[in-house]
Amino acid sequence: MRVISKPNEMQTNVESLRNEGKKIAVIPTMGYLHEGHTSLIRKGRELADIVITTLFVNPTQFGPNEDFEKYPRDFARDFQLAEEAGTDFLFNPVTEDIYQDGYNTLISISGITDKFEGASRQGHFDGVATIVAKIFNITKPHYAIFGQKDYQQTLVIKQLVRDFFFDLSVVVAPTVRESDGLALSSRNVYLSPDERTKAVILFKALDEAEIAIQKGENRRKILNAILHNAIRSIPEIKIDYACAADADTLEEPDVFLPGEHVILMIAVFNGITRLIDNALVTIPQDPQVKKHYFV
Ligand code: PAJ
Repeated sequence: MRVISKPNEMQTNVESLRNEGKKIAVIPTMGYLHEGHTSLIRKGRELADIVITTLFVNPTQFGPNEDFEKYPRDFARDFQLAEEAGTDFLFNPVTEDIYQDGYNTLISISGITDKFEGASRQGHFDGVATIVAKIFNITKPHYAIFGQKDYQQTLVIKQLVRDFFFDLSVVVAPTVRESDGLALSSRNVYLSPDERTKAVILFKALDEAEIAIQKGENRRKILNAILHNAIRSIPEIKIDYACAADADTLEEPDVFLPGEHVILMIAVFNGITRLIDNALVTIPQDPQVKKHYFV
C-alpha cells in the first residue's frame, strides 16, 4: 500500500491508472477505522482494480461546538487496517493542501439537507458535499463507496453526483454492527461502559418499528411513537430525532403505501456522545398480520 498526501501526486497516479484502463474505487473516511470502514474497502476490492482509501478529518463538516478537536485519530492503526482490507493507495492529506490559502468555494445542497442531520448540524452537509467533491476530483474514481450507517449522507452524495455530473457510481454498503446490534462508529470510543450497554436501545427501537411494519403498521406517527417509546425506556438517552420517512425523498407522509421504501432514522445523545442509526424497510404488499387473520 502506498501513502500519498499531496493532491496533485494522487491525481497524477490515478490519471495514469485510468489510461491503463484500470477501474478505481474510492472509500472516503475520517479515519479511526473499524470493521464498518474495512467492509467498504473490501467492497471496493470486489468492484475495482485499484482501491483508494482516503483519511481526512474534515474540519468544514463539524459545527463550532462539535468534536473536531477530539475526534479520535490513530494513523498507525488506520494504516494497518486499510492495508489488511486491501487498499492500494491511502490518501492522507493535510488540511492546508485541501483547503488552500484563499479557498473560497463551498458546495451547498438544499432540499434533502433541510431536516434530520441537516437541521441538527447546521452546515454539516455543505462540509460533506465540499470534501466529497474535492475527493472525487483528486481520486477520479469509477466507484465511490459509502455506508448506509450515514443514510442521509448517501442521499446528499447521490444528489451531488447528479447535479455536478460526476461520472461515477455511488455504491451504498450495509451497516456493520457489534454482536448486540450497536452500529460500529468511530465515536463509540467516547462511550463509558454503562453508556455502551445502553446504546443498544437504538438498534432495539429500530427492530421494534421494523417488526411493526412487517405486521402491517404503516402510519408514520405510530412508527415514530414506537421508536420514541422504545428509546424513552432508557431515560439517560436524549432523543434528537426518531422518525420514519420516505427513503428516497425524506418526505413524511401520514401513511406509507405497500412497496414503498421507508427509512427509520434515529439520532440521540448518549451522555455527551451523539449517536445515529437507521433501518431501511419496505412496506409489505401483504403484511404478516393479515395473513394471520385470514388463514
Ligand atoms: P466516517 O464517519 O469516517 O465514515 C466513512 C464511511 O464509513 C462512511 O461512508 C460511513 O457511512 C461508513 N461507515 C461508518 N460506520 C459504518 C458501519 N458501522 N457500517 C458500514 N459503514 C460505516 O462519513 C464520513 O466519515 C465523512 O462524512 C466523509 C464521507 C468521509 C466525508 O468527510
